[in-house]
Amino acid sequence: MFTFTVNSPSSTPAFDVLDVDQLRADTRGCSEVIHLNNAGSALPPAIVVDTMVGFLRQEEMQGGYEAHAKAQGRLNNVYTSIATLLATEPTHIALTESATSSWDRAFAAIAFTEPFTSKSRILVSSSEYASNVLPIMQIVKRTGATLEFIADSPEGVTDLDSLEKLLDESVALVAINHCPSQNGLINDVAGIGEIIRSKNPNTWYLVDACQSVGQLSVDAPAIGADFLSVTGRKFMRGPRGTGFLYCSSRTLAELEPFPLDLHGGHWDSALHYSVRHGARRFESWEKSYAALLGLGAAVDYSLALGMSAIELRITELAAYARDQLATIAGVRILDRGESLSGIVTFLHETTPAAQIVERLRAAGINVSLGTPDYSQVDYLGHGVEALIRVSPHVYNTTTEIDTLVETVRELTA
Ligand SMILES: Cc1ncc(COP(=O)(O)O)c(C=O)c1O
Repeated sequence: MFTFTVNSPSSTPAFDVLDVDQLRADTRGCSEVIHLNNAGSALPPAIVVDTMVGFLRQEEMQGGYEAHAKAQGRLNNVYTSIATLLATEPTHIALTESATSSWDRAFAAIAFTEPFTSKSRILVSSSEYASNVLPIMQIVKRTGATLEFIADSPEGVTDLDSLEKLLDESVALVAINHCPSQNGLINDVAGIGEIIRSKNPNTWYLVDACQSVGQLSVDAPAIGADFLSVTGRKFMRGPRGTGFLYCSSRTLAELEPFPLDLHGGHWDSALHYSVRHGARRFESWEKSYAALLGLGAAVDYSLALGMSAIELRITELAAYARDQLATIAGVRILDRGESLSGIVTFLHETTPAAQIVERLRAAGINVSLGTPDYSQVDYLGHGVEALIRVSPHVYNTTTEIDTLVETVRELTA
């Protein structure tokens, strides 16, 4: 039964739905650290690591290919679990190594199938992640296509009216993050999808769901995107080196991945090849099956808790952290938008962010440092040179957040 009631001003039924003692018992790292860096890489539930270790032992004792062959059923279940999580079918899911590898595969397929030209326009959010913008800039350099940043709304999220004005048939691609790395804002990706589909259905729509899947309920088809790129290790609580890619029906009907390998394609005869059916065409042949089984265990763990319960608990812990941090003299909360995610960002007017992060780590409290390297336009547009990111997960408590807040208060006094 849930026992955790300490100092919770926003105590609502959501706090009571999950058995936090059990969640902490399931998460061995909780006994070592106060881990508030789940937007970086979360503490996995024990079942994730145990699943991986178990499979590595099978590879050790039986041989990698042989262990893989025996695990086919379990591996198919990973696709089914991810499909359930995203309200889609397993044939729409590809397993990858990271959000970036998912995003890159999507972008390369668009660039290969319908090459960008000097007339192509690419629209992105002002809070887009560096690893997404860099390949776009490379294509722009090579082809003469243009890259445009969509203005923010007065609330500070990607503005739908601005997008609508920019959208015409020259827009080849719209790439938007659902939740950015460096802010608690949530972009209205379904609203954006609706505008794209009604105004210019030929435009490709690529959603970076790296920071949203695992903390928010996400219905991929309802967003109307052609792709969603996701990582395993963040709010999803899977192993490092895992990710996945959701592909729409249009993507599967029209796009050819580049480059193919012999998993995504087939060498039919000397000069002929064919492309595999379904989203697995976006995968590579070689994979860490231990890691992917661990990812499946993480997804199953979240599904068992229920994504709406997870979402409520994370967002309430984040709201509590914002409220409490805001009581510290000199602290400025940076999160924008009407509804906020589990990412809390702040800075202090005199104590450098890097110093705060370092001192917290020395005190056994993990948070992360954000710098413009991750998203130039967002940081510089808001005059932010560095920030502190706090990202709780279900296993965190308000007591841990109180410890964080009091430590920040002391070290900035
Ligand atoms: C919004 C966003 N997109 C993409 C990425 C890249 O994810 P990965 O490191 O799994 O490629 C990150 C990583 O922090 C991110 O925050």
